[in-house]
This record gives sequence, C-alpha cells and structure tokens, in this order.
Amino acid sequence: MPRLLTATDKAIGIAAAALRRGNVVAFPTETVYGLGADTFNIAALQQVYDLKGRPADNPLIAHVSDAAQARRVAAAWDERCDRLTRRFWPGPLTIVVQRAEAVPDLATAGWPTIAIRSPDHPAALALLAEFGGPVSAPSANRSGHVSPTTAQHVADDFPDAGDLIILDGGPCAIGIESTVVDLSAQTPGILRPGAIPADAIRRVIGEVALSSVATQAHSPGTSPAHYAPHTATEIVAGEALADRLQRDAGPLVVLCFPGIDVPGRHTAIVMPDDPGAYAARLYGALREADRRGAARILIERPAARAGLWLAIHDRLDRAAGGQCPGVGRHGSG
Ligand code: TXA
Ligand code: MG
Repeated sequence: MPRLLTATDKAIGIAAAALRRGNVVAFPTETVYGLGADTFNIAALQQVYDLKGRPADNPLIAHVSDAAQARRVAAAWDERCDRLTRRFWPGPLTIVVQRAEAVPDLATAGWPTIAIRSPDHPAALALLAEFGGPVSAPSANRSGHVSPTTAQHVADDFPDAGDLIILDGGPCAIGIESTVVDLSAQTPGILRPGAIPADAIRRVIGEVALSSVATQAHSPGTSPAHYAPHTATEIVAGEALADRLQRDAGPLVVLCFPGIDVPGRHTAIVMPDDPGAYAARLYGALREADRRGAARILIERPAARAGLWLAIHDRLDRAAGGQCPGVGRHGSG
C-alpha cells in the first residue's frame, strides 16, 4: 500500500527527502495529480515508467518552481518563453522547447525537446522549493487510465506500490491536464488543449496553430484512446439521449446535464453546467461510473465548444476512444 500523507510542511519535507533518495512521489497540482521523480535520476525516472506501465516513447513533463529553474533543463529560451511564463506561470501551461544536454534521455523518452511547467498549487510549489530541482511527472494514473484528481484516485491506481508516497493536497481545482504548447517549431502549436485557451496564448505570442487529435503523432500521450474508463464509453448527443435511455436495457451509467428523465434501471451522474465545475468533476465522475459495473457509460455531449469546453470535448472524445460527432440538447455556456 502507498503512504498517503496530508501535505503539511513535515510531509513535504519527507517527500522531498524521498525524491532525493531516488524514490517516486505523487503530488497534487491544480490540474491533476503527478507521479514525480528527480529529473536527473535515471533509476527514479525508470520507476515512473514502470509503475505507470507507460510506453517508453512517451516523454515526461518537467515540473519547476519558476522560469529560472526551467532554464536549467532548456537548451534554448527565447522571448516567447519569457512572455508566456511571465503571463501564465505558475499555472496550467506546459511549454515544449529544445532540451538541455544535461537532461537524461529518459526524462524526455529520448526526444530532443522537453515539456516544462510550473504548477499552481501550494503543495507542489513547496515540494519543488524544498527539493530544489526539477521533478519529472506524468499524471499519476496507470497508463491509459483516467487521470487522478484526488490522492485517493492515485492510491486506487497503485495499490501495490509500497514505496510510493502520495501527498494529499485535496481535490484538484481545474481537474483536466495542462495546455501543452510546442515552441520548438517555427510556428507554435497546441499539442493538447487545456484550461488556457489558444486565444489567450495568441494574445501573448501571436500566431499559434491548433493541431487536432489526428495530427498529434507529435505528442504520444495524446493518442485518441487515452484517459479512458474500463467500461465501454460512448458520447451521445443531447437530443438523442432520452430516447436512448428508454430503449437501452443497460444498466447504463449516464453523465448528463440536469433535467433529463433517467429510468430507474440506469444510474445518473448529474454534471454541472459551468465548464470550470464540469472539468473539475469529470475524472472523478468517470471513475465513479466505472465502479458501478454498468454495461456501458453514456456521456451527454455538451453543446458549447468555446474556451474550456474545447478541452473538455477533447477529453470526452479520448474517454470514448475516438471522435464522436453530434451536438448537445443543452444550451451554450
Ligand atoms: O497537467 C498536466 O500537464 C499534468 C500534471 C501532473 O502536471 N501532467 C500530465 O502529464 O498530464 P502526462 O505525462 O500525463 O502528459 C504529458 C503530455 C503527454 O501528452 C506527452 O506526450 C506530452 O505532454 N509531452 C511531454 N513531453 C513532450 C515533448 N517533448 N514533446 C511533445 N509532447 C510532449
Ligand atoms: Mg497522463
């Protein structure tokens, strides 16, 4: 069993010491929990890949306390990096830049670039300060599974990891992973949508390409079948949902907006209308849905697509293992 510690100063000291010894530590961020190891310790990095069952070609995000620490792992740091990090760090923005020579291959799965972000969570920042160096961390879930937004989610994914310390900093405020922007190319591109929309990035550095799921061969962790529950999951347009719930023997678990009549043989998990609240609830709801042992999970597709909803659609499509067309019955917002 992993060791779950409330993220007090004392626990952060224990976790930093564990990182120094080359152990793996799970820690809260404002997006999702991370599974961290010392960026410069190859054996520790290998443990992260082994624990997660992560494919060896999927690079990790280096978490840093600030831009100064980021420069230690970056080979090139231009004005766009300065502007973006001044505007959005600490926060849910990951930048991809050329990697410094000192960074071990394993920290970037051999890639010449490195993804870096400074997380906006007091426990994560305290851990990074106490440790005094970059911490490479993917989301703290078994590879391919739904990302964890509570310490308990992490414990649930790694019940046998006896050496694992999990710092409990409460539920993640944002609840979906950071926006990843590639600055290693001439024209920057969004590799993964997140809480910081492309428009906000454009306002700071100008032109930014929006790459779709299909064109993301570039960022291995963004393959379509990712962030998925174990139960077969399907996205259904709002206007088709009521009929589907009547006809389907199920039992189904349905993630729907308020106001739909769900027959008693099915289970409804009512989702919030507000995109921020929806994102914060989503992964917990998917894990809950999984535990019901239903034949299928249905998710009502939100009608709105602007801002944070775009990132939510991206995660829903991945949870269902690919693209699914259709508009929702629900109003925009
Ligand atoms: O919000 C987040 O970003 C969370 C928290 C823990 O910080 N982390 C996270 O890490 O989501 P992970 O490993 O689950 O996702 C990292 C994504 C993957 O899609 C990976 O392929 C991509 O970033 N990535 C990492 N390094 C990259 C690189 N050098 N070039 C392109 N994509 C990269
Ligand atoms: Mg992940």
